[in-house]
Amino acid sequence: MAQEHRLSFLLSLIMFISIVSNGCDCHPQSLWSISSGTGAKTSNDTRKASDIAPEVASYSDVAKQIIDLAVFGAARNRSYRRLADFTDTIGNRVSGSQNLEMAIKYMHKAMTQDGLDVHLEPVKIPHWVRGQESAEMILPRAKSLAILGLGSSVGTPPEGIQAQVLVVQSFDELKQRASEATGKIVVFNQPFVSYGETVAYRAFGASEAAKLGAVATLIRSITPFSINSPHTGWQDYQDGVKHIPTACITVEDAELMWRIAQRGQAIIVKLIMGAKTLPDADSFNTVAEIRGWQHPEQVVLLSGHLDSWDVGQGAMDDGGGAMISWEALSLIKDLGLRPRRTLRTVLWTAEEQGGVGAQQYFNLHKVNLSNFDLVMESDLGTFTPVALQFTGSDAAWKVMEEVVKLLAPINTTKLEMHGEGTDISPWMQAGIPGASLHVADSRYFWFHHSEGDTMTVQNPRDMDLCSALWAVVAYVVADLEDMLPR
Ligand SMILES: *[C@@H]1O[C@H](CO)[C@@H](O)[C@H](O)[C@H]1NC(C)=O
Ligand SMILES: *[C@@H]1O[C@H](CO)[C@@H](O)[C@H](O)[C@H]1NC(C)=O
Ligand SMILES: *[C@@H]1O[C@H](CO)[C@@H](O)[C@H](O)[C@H]1NC(C)=O
Ligand SMILES: *[C@@H]1O[C@H](CO)[C@@H](O)[C@H](O)[C@H]1NC(C)=O
Repeated sequence: MAQEHRLSFLLSLIMFISIVSNGCDCHPQSLWSISSGTGAKTSNDTRKASDIAPEVASYSDVAKQIIDLAVFGAARNRSYRRLADFTDTIGNRVSGSQNLEMAIKYMHKAMTQDGLDVHLEPVKIPHWVRGQESAEMILPRAKSLAILGLGSSVGTPPEGIQAQVLVVQSFDELKQRASEATGKIVVFNQPFVSYGETVAYRAFGASEAAKLGAVATLIRSITPFSINSPHTGWQDYQDGVKHIPTACITVEDAELMWRIAQRGQAIIVKLIMGAKTLPDADSFNTVAEIRGWQHPEQVVLLSGHLDSWDVGQGAMDDGGGAMISWEALSLIKDLGLRPRRTLRTVLWTAEEQGGVGAQQYFNLHKVNLSNFDLVMESDLGTFTPVALQFTGSDAAWKVMEEVVKLLAPINTTKLEMHGEGTDISPWMQAGIPGASLHVADSRYFWFHHSEGDTMTVQNPRDMDLCSALWAVVAYVVADLEDMLPR
């Protein structure tokens, strides 16, 4: 999931905070769907609800077949097994890495062997490497600090940076204590409110501190729970502001340094980071299709991202979303179904660097905007599904309300406002209906962007339920007589 969108460069900090303070516990990119008003409903009731209900209801048998195959039948546990094989074989897959190249080759081969129509679309992607890194508290006592450098950070000189620490709890406190920041390593010990709100410290902490003359920043990891786990992620340097090294530290160490500072004791930390940015690398979006029999040019798009951070296995973020987007096509194919419109699974590259693969895909394919029926993204985990999140017109909403009724056998008949996802947001901003998967995700940010994002977090039954939901929604929308109303 869900990294800081390139567009966030354009946002002032203040605007960012005013948007996120809506209390949206979601990813920063999703804020764009709120701020750009794609949630607004433009009514165009070309078809009456009374016409669409029986048409959608006529799919209840086929929906049951899909669900039976995924949850109780031959495909049971398949998306989990596929994900385990993929992530155990390849490991994590950060933008620009050889692992990501291997992952794309792996998926190209696997989906081709599965009988799908597969191709790759080239994309240039960022290539940031972490290098060796370490941090140590020197005063008031020696203690090593667990860190993860943040994506796009510069490194330190080889001998490191050793400096006194200023600990603050907020941007406001930093401003009040501006004169103390010069020459210091600024430690942000901000409490976790929600990901959408608190991630501003990871995204903008380095530049805000650099403006006041700080030499480096250490950011408390953006997580509500920790067993001394640092959580990485993308960060944005502001134009015209000195680039200083920035890394996340654990909740425990941030609180420790805060307590020490409160007692008036001086803290000195030595930080060594070998991070650097190399020239952009070659990569691909991976595309698999079942071509529609009647309107092959019209598309229902399902997606997840194939890249991850360079820690853990990237099983949850976003291996699960990628696998259910493949599995949905497998289920439909295994049942010998072929919808009117094309079902297209896109496994995005370089999402974590700001939706780079998805933005390029949009730029290339927006000439065919009018042929995109629905764009779907799963990037919030594949835990127990709770609802389908949807953004579209009132008329489209009425259709989708009927579609989710077909999910009664798996108890997920709820439709919620606001489809979201970094990678589908350009389409939604252009007015294409968008859908995402709401799962029971209370633990998502415990593991997010950390060494803890492994297969151990995943559960085969939950993945079956997610796959079934994804397949039913995609198939039925792709096979209805008409595209969703805009
Ligand atoms: C409503 O949909 C019809 C058919 O697609 C289209 O011709 C018409 O321009 C739309 N009207 C509005 C207000 O969007
Ligand atoms: C699916 O996975 C569950 C949990 O690991 C296991 O108990 C069950 O036997 C598996 N079923 C099949 C058909 O693989
Ligand atoms: C646009 O759609 C047409 C018709 O399906 C197709 O031939 C063409 O390749 C598409 N162009 C792009 C850039 O996707
Ligand atoms: C749906 O809910 C019913 C009633 O609580 C339960 O018996 C059934 O097992 C549930 N189905 C699934 C697939 O979880």
